[in-house]
Amino acid sequence: MIGEKEKNAIIRLFHVYRHYGSKNALIDITLDVFKNEFLFISGPSGAGKTTLLKLLYLGEPVSDGQILIDGMNLSRISRNRIPYLRRNFGIVFQDYKLIKTKTVYENVAIVLEASGVKRRMVQKKVNHVLRTVGMEQRHSAFPPSLSGGEQQRVAIARAIVGDPKIILADEPTGSLDSESASFIFNLLKGVHTRGATVIIATHDKELIKKTGGRVVYLSSGRLETSPYV
Ligand SMILES: Nc1ncnc2c1ncn2[C@@H]1O[C@H](COP(=O)(O)OP(=O)(O)O)[C@@H](O)[C@H]1O
Ligand SMILES: [Mg+2]
Repeated sequence: MIGEKEKNAIIRLFHVYRHYGSKNALIDITLDVFKNEFLFISGPSGAGKTTLLKLLYLGEPVSDGQILIDGMNLSRISRNRIPYLRRNFGIVFQDYKLIKTKTVYENVAIVLEASGVKRRMVQKKVNHVLRTVGMEQRHSAFPPSLSGGEQQRVAIARAIVGDPKIILADEPTGSLDSESASFIFNLLKGVHTRGATVIIATHDKELIKKTGGRVVYLSSGRLETSPYV
């Protein structure tokens, strides 16, 4: 019988492994992430945080074990369904990954244009998310003219504009000063308040403490669920 807790899990990992050659990046990971959770994946550099996020958004296959996203078993998804599955995710990286030759507006709009949203609706949604992250005044700027914190705000706008159910952020504040980092964490909190499940990989214990939320800890590829902060 499926219990209430399991029904509310949006992500389920069962005995997941990921090897690179003889290197075990993830070992026997079993974890449920619940709908509308705000979850930190913490642990030192090299612990497997980035690898875990990659497996979730189908950036890489598992070596062993199973992952279910919203009830769908990733190992049974046909290749042509992968783009649809990826629309469940908005992803934020440490190095922003904005397109330097496109404006702030274009960097965000591209997500909607790629999924065939009509121009008027694109405008409405992009302007709305740029207001949400406080970047509406800079819509015509190019990323290289922005500070790191501003670029990350645009990257968050890009991640949330398609209204994904799950936001994955990999060391989103790793290149930012503490003030910009707090701003970014608060934006992610806001995304969570509006209903998304948010998973943040970070080794920044101070920010975790300040922000609050469940913390799971990776150590040499293994998961420890004991409280970390
Ligand atoms: N493509 C790869 N090939 C070989 N080893 C890798 C690869 N990606 C990650 N690793 C190794 O897997 C381990 C976990 O890496 P990673 O997930 O990036 O850790 P974290 O994000 O916690 O710093 C590290 O030892 C890393 O060197
Ligand atoms: Mg990493």
